[in-house]
Amino acid sequence: MRNLILAFALITGLAGCTTPPAPPWHLAARAGDTTLYEQLGEMDGITRIVEGLLINISEDERIVHHFAETDIDRLNEKLIEQICVESGGPCTYTGDSMQDSHAGFDISEADFNALVEGLIAAMDAEAIPVPAQNRLLARLAPMRGDIIYR
Ligand code: HEM
Repeated sequence: MRNLILAFALITGLAGCTTPPAPPWHLAARAGDTTLYEQLGEMDGITRIVEGLLINISEDERIVHHFAETDIDRLNEKLIEQICVESGGPCTYTGDSMQDSHAGFDISEADFNALVEGLIAAMDAEAIPVPAQNRLLARLAPMRGDIIYR
């Protein structure tokens, strides 16, 4: 019995002094304090990413025709808001739903992939770490069904 109590004291004592083990590397990116919003560079960083995305779209012959009638200032503003919200930033999205804003454009899966390519290139240009890029893309991916073939 004494041995049992000793063993218990040792185990609990040890546990109290031991630093918890570091999370595995693939979880570490999510386990830190840094929010995705911070990793994207907050409002300044997100503004530059969206600017890069819009430039890439304007140079992409595969998809630029979809934006022929678009109010680019509005799109710029709504995209910044949306990425801010999706990354956990202190913003409110005031734009239309993804379903409503993409209705009638008949956007294909290939168009969707082309835009995502443009977004990745814009994030690369801002030196956003790949795990943070993937976190943002994972937040946007579920919108795909509301955007394509509408
Ligand atoms: C994850 C992918 C996408 C996101 C997050 C996204 C987000 C947005 C947002 C926030 C708006 C503004 C809505 C508003 O004005 O209230 C918008 C509009 C628009 N998007 Fe997307 N979009 C995506 C994919 C695409 C793709 C693949 C295309 C075409 C290649 C596209 C074409 C457009 C067009 C043309 C407009 C403007 C519509 C108009 O002029 O009324 N979007 N999108």
